[in-house]
Amino acid sequence: MYFPLFYLTLSSVCLCRFTFASDPSVIIIGAGPAGIAAAAKLLENSITNIKILEAENRIGGRINSVEFSESGKFVDLGAEYCHGQTNNIVYELVKDLNILEPISQDFSPALYYSNGSRLDSAFTEELQAVILGYDSHDSNYNTTGAAIGDIFLKKYNATIVKKYQNDNEKSKILKEALRLAEQVSLMIDGAFSWIDTSAVKHYERSEGHQLLVWKGRGYKTILEVLTKQHPDPKEKLPIDDKIFLNTQVSKITWSSNNEVVVKTLDNTTHVADHVIFTPSVGVLKEQRDALFDPSLSSPKLKAIEAIGIGGVMKIIMHFDNEWWRDEDVIFAFLWSKEDLSNVAREFPFGPIKNEISWLSAVTVMAKVPGNPGVLIAWLTGDFVPEIEQTPVETLKDGCNYLLNKFLGKDYNITTPDGILKSTWRSNSHFRGTYSYERAGCDKDNIRYQEDLAEPLKVQGKPVVLFAGEATNPVHYSTVHGAIETGYREAQRIINLYKKH
Ligand SMILES: Cc1cc2nc3c(=O)[nH]c(=O)nc-3n(C[C@H](O)[C@H](O)[C@H](O)COP(=O)(O)OP(=O)(O)OC[C@H]3O[C@@H](n4cnc5c(N)ncnc54)[C@H](O)[C@@H]3O)c2cc1C
Ligand SMILES: *[C@@H]1O[C@H](CO)[C@@H](O)[C@H](O)[C@H]1NC(C)=O
Ligand SMILES: *[C@@H]1O[C@H](CO)[C@@H](O)[C@H](O)[C@H]1NC(C)=O
Ligand SMILES: *[C@@H]1O[C@H](CO)[C@@H](O)[C@H](O)[C@H]1NC(C)=O
Ligand SMILES: *[C@@H]1O[C@H](CO)[C@@H](O)[C@H](O)[C@H]1NC(C)=O
Ligand SMILES: *[C@@H]1O[C@H](CO)[C@@H](O)[C@H](O)[C@H]1NC(C)=O
Repeated sequence: MYFPLFYLTLSSVCLCRFTFASDPSVIIIGAGPAGIAAAAKLLENSITNIKILEAENRIGGRINSVEFSESGKFVDLGAEYCHGQTNNIVYELVKDLNILEPISQDFSPALYYSNGSRLDSAFTEELQAVILGYDSHDSNYNTTGAAIGDIFLKKYNATIVKKYQNDNEKSKILKEALRLAEQVSLMIDGAFSWIDTSAVKHYERSEGHQLLVWKGRGYKTILEVLTKQHPDPKEKLPIDDKIFLNTQVSKITWSSNNEVVVKTLDNTTHVADHVIFTPSVGVLKEQRDALFDPSLSSPKLKAIEAIGIGGVMKIIMHFDNEWWRDEDVIFAFLWSKEDLSNVAREFPFGPIKNEISWLSAVTVMAKVPGNPGVLIAWLTGDFVPEIEQTPVETLKDGCNYLLNKFLGKDYNITTPDGILKSTWRSNSHFRGTYSYERAGCDKDNIRYQEDLAEPLKVQGKPVVLFAGEATNPVHYSTVHGAIETGYREAQRIINLYKKH
């Protein structure tokens, strides 16, 4: 009892001295939205002795807007949409700048069957209502510990499957549509299986438009807003000379309360009073033992286990003329059992697993407001890591084959003249796309994101602080969630020095 109290007193004395004696030094690991937000907040509070170490050759992290096809127009390989308007820091920051717009209000998908027919819109809407409209908090089911997949199947069987039990054609399609239902859920959660995702989610939706886009400027615009480069470049915070690109951190030694030692791949060491760690939970899952000295212990380890990350993939295509119609927003692809088992023979290129082609992973293709001629394909499921390794020429041929097979009767499809692919899962600086809550974890009644966010302390002083989307208990998996955590950890440091 006595001993810890003694330390507490001692450390608060030290902190008071820091307050007046020194400008604290801070190393931020990662220049994604959480890291950039933390840096901006520190700079705005006159904490200027900072370094941002970034493993990639660019800033932005899982925001990666690249100029594509039309000069000056950016497409997003990572984050693309601002999800919601209220209680959303991204929306707050830009709402007066006239740079966000909602995609079409009505985005009921054009659902195509692999025999080349568009499914009738009444049936599509019914299907969409079950696929997107299932509510895990439905009082008919006790969802504690349950996976989305289990809950969905119960509801699916009890509703739409039952309704069409005497219609052979629809009953067959409903069986086949289960794959699509899982894929849609994987697109939202970024998991590899819906059996791994919790039916109970603590995510808090921001109300308002869920799909706001950046008018061809890309999501990178938010980084320009955070650093005050936009709207007035003259106001830009002095951040550029504090960012070190191609600088991968390999070891964080945090045993002393005087300084944290950060080593990078080229064996350079950097020291600071505090480190803010922002890489993804995918990086933590793979690197936690190598990265931290002393190593992390429970409950941090348990949190890294309990929070999931899988991967979705984007293939971005440009067509020199838009062969689709103005009213089309999104195309979805539903395979018949026969076509699914034949496709690997008809299109034998690219990865094939259990005799099924990678083309089966293409879930939807969406047009992109602000980027004329552009369609983005979203691929989901555990096939993604292999597809990421496939050359873009094969991906292009595959998408072309797929479009002609499903949509060729209704549209005169042309061949794309430009193509890009994402590789989030393969890239060791990310190891996935966005975090999700894993099935079963709600049973423990622990908010694992809070455990992940808990700083590492030495004698009461927080020396390593954790930010990043997966440390946000309510807005995880998003850019606005990531920015909130960067602000949160910067504020934690500011409070140490501004207060007694
Ligand atoms: C395909 C895709 C689509 C998405 N769509 C949306 C969307 O529409 N809307 C939305 O809100 N969100 C979306 N997201 C999620 C959003 O992009 C992330 O939640 C957000 O970018 C996370 O920010 P962060 O700062 O926490 O992490 P990151 O953006 O991952 O930043 C962490 C940084 O750390 C760096 N790093 C990793 N390891 C090291 C190391 N050892 N040393 C130094 N640096 C290191 C990484 O290179 C990275 O730059 C999407 C993500 C993806 C991938
Ligand atoms: C495709 O399948 C649907 C559903 O079974 C059917 O209604 C339609 O007629 C078929 N189209 C063709 C061209 O065979
Ligand atoms: C749900 O199930 C869990 C575990 O089976 C049980 O502990 C809990 O009390 C149940 N909750 C309700 C509301 O029935
Ligand atoms: C749903 O129905 C299918 C058969 O159509 C069956 O295999 C499955 O077990 C059912 N699932 C649930 C959860 O009822
Ligand atoms: C860094 O140090 C390790 C061991 O001390 C050595 O094996 C490695 O080659 C060094 N790397 C560089 C880039 O100097
Ligand atoms: C496709 O092109 C053919 C030949 O030019 C034309 O007859 C047909 O109407 C076009 N179809 C569509 C859907 O535009």
